[in-house]
Order: sequence, then structure tokens, then C-alpha cells
Amino acid sequence: MGCESLSVALAIVLLLEPCLSLACLQCDSNFSSHFSSYAPKLSRKSWGLGVVPVAGRRLRGWAQDTLQELNLKISPDIPVEKLHTIATTVYGKLDMLFKNHTYKPGDLPKKLDSIFEEQIKMLQDAIVESRIKCENHCGLNHYEAISCQTCNATKPTCFGYNCSSSDKWKDALNELYDYVKGLNKEPEVWASALRQVPTFSHCTAESPDTLNFTSIGDTLSKNWLKMMALKDMEEDAALLKLLEPTC
Ligand SMILES: *[C@@H]1O[C@H](CO)[C@@H](O)[C@H](O)[C@H]1NC(C)=O
Ligand SMILES: *[C@@H]1O[C@H](CO)[C@@H](O)[C@H](O)[C@H]1NC(C)=O
Ligand SMILES: *[C@@H]1O[C@H](CO)[C@@H](O)[C@H](O)[C@H]1NC(C)=O
Ligand SMILES: *[C@@H]1O[C@H](CO)[C@@H](O)[C@H](O)[C@H]1NC(C)=O
Ligand SMILES: *[C@@H]1O[C@H](CO)[C@@H](O)[C@H](O)[C@H]1NC(C)=O
Repeated sequence: MGCESLSVALAIVLLLEPCLSLACLQCDSNFSSHFSSYAPKLSRKSWGLGVVPVAGRRLRGWAQDTLQELNLKISPDIPVEKLHTIATTVYGKLDMLFKNHTYKPGDLPKKLDSIFEEQIKMLQDAIVESRIKCENHCGLNHYEAISCQTCNATKPTCFGYNCSSSDKWKDALNELYDYVKGLNKEPEVWASALRQVPTFSHCTAESPDTLNFTSIGDTLSKNWLKMMALKDMEEDAALLKLLEPTC
């Protein structure tokens, strides 16, 4: 039986049962204990016609819908503490919503939607900020994160342009080439690992042999010089957009 064919009452009881695969907010260890406490509240209070099915659907689909709504061009990796902070904020708002007896019961779905949207914005900001912070170094960098898609630990790798001298820049380029050459040689694994390096997210190369390191070095160096020249004039985020090599 698929998720959609369950009756609503049953589905609310089964809120956290096999239908859901792990996703994003659900990667937080306290997700289950909080979300399982909302279902009984939904059935106990008299909420008004049509409210319970809509609210139940929103709560039941929370984790999967979150992943879908994130809609980012980069992979949704988020440091665990940031995820936890956001999750705790969301639980706080939901706890408050179910405790508050002063709003019209019929407003529940709208209020749930607005908490949901706020959550999406917080997650997007945290994911993008972590990435930009990583790219604001010189050369290769990593950070510890958790994948919103699988809840597995990940270690996103960034290549940053914030080098203070040509020597540091040259070292950073060498480090990048060594990294790219040292990636797992399975063509598909290699290609996917390459695109995880933000600088190379647009590359379609299938193996190190098809990358022209001379041309990559040229464009990266040109971009680096351009960025050094613009550094005092532009916002970081605008600068980072300049930086993709021809590959
Ligand atoms: C989960 O919630 C409990 C009680 O609110 C809290 O003490 C604990 O730190 C939370 N778990 C994590 C991983 O923070
Ligand atoms: C309870 O709901 C009412 C009506 O929406 C709102 O004005 C009030 O701020 C809420 N109280 C809390 C503590 O969230
Ligand atoms: C670039 O590096 C310098 C020196 O390491 C540091 O002070 C500065 O904050 C960095 N810039 C950004 C945007 O992170
Ligand atoms: C995530 O971790 C699980 C268990 O540790 C593993 O079976 C699975 O292959 C991992 N998924 C990815 C995409 O790495
Ligand atoms: C690599 O790129 C350089 C500079 O763009 C170009 O001169 C050279 O012919 C390219 N090499 C190959 C094998 O395509």
C-alpha cells in the first residue's frame, strides 16, 4: 500500500512509519519525538471542517516536501549544528502553534504553511552560507556536513580564491590538480566527485584525461587576477560568480 492510499486518520497515526524515507529536517535526531507528539494533538482538539486532513498531510509530508522545496543548484549539505539549530527553531514554533488556543482553529493549515516556508528559507540560507564560507579560503577546503538527501555524513570540498599572493595562488592550483587527479577513477564516480567541487559544478568531463589543465589553469588564473582587481569594489557573492574555469 502506498502512502497516498492510506486513510487520513490512519496516516496521522502512522505519521512517522514506513512511508517516509529520511530527508533533511528528519536527519535531526529529535525529529521523531517532536513530530510524533503533534498527531495526537491534531485529533484531540476540534479544529473545524477540513482542517485535520490538510494539516495531517502537511505534517506527514514535512520531511519529503522540505527536500523538494529546497530547490537549490548546489547539493543540499548542511553542517549538523546548523541543522539542529533550525530544527529546534521549527519544533519551537510548532509546539507553540499546537499549544496556542487563541487563534481560529481553521487557521491551522495556513500557520503550518508559514512555518514550513520559514524553515525552507532558513535551510537554504544555511546551506548556501556554509558553502560560501568554505570558498572564502585559499585553495581546497572541506567542511563536515550532513546530506539533506540521505542523512549521511558528507564532506563537501570547495576550491577558494581568497589567496593573498601569486605564490599562494600557485600552490592552491597545484593542490587542486592533485586533488582532481587523485579522485576515484571509476568514470561515473570521478565525474560526480568533480562536480561536487563547486568550481567545477558545470563540468561535463568524464575523466581526468579529458580535462585540459592548461586551459583550466589559464582561466582560473585570469579569474583570480580579475577578482584581486575587483576585490575592494564588489560583494563576496558577486565575486564568487566570476570564477568558473573553462574545462
Ligand atoms: C533533543 O531534545 C532534548 C530535550 O529537548 C535535548 O536535551 C537534546 O539535546 C536534543 N538532542 C540533540 C541532539 O540536541
Ligand atoms: C496565538 O495566536 C494568535 C492568533 O493568531 C496570535 O496573535 C498570538 O501571537 C499567538 N500566541 C503565541 C504565543 O504564539
Ligand atoms: C580572505 O583571507 C584573509 C586572510 O586570510 C581574511 O582576513 C579574510 O577575511 C578572507 N576573506 C574572506 C571574504 O573570507
Ligand atoms: C548512506 O548510508 C547508508 C548506511 O550507512 C548506506 O547504506 C548508503 O549507501 C549511504 N548512501 C549514500 C548515498 O552514500
Ligand atoms: C589546452 O588548452 C590550451 C589553452 O587553451 C590550448 O592551447 C591547447 O591546445 C589545449 N590542449 C588540448 C590537448 O586540447
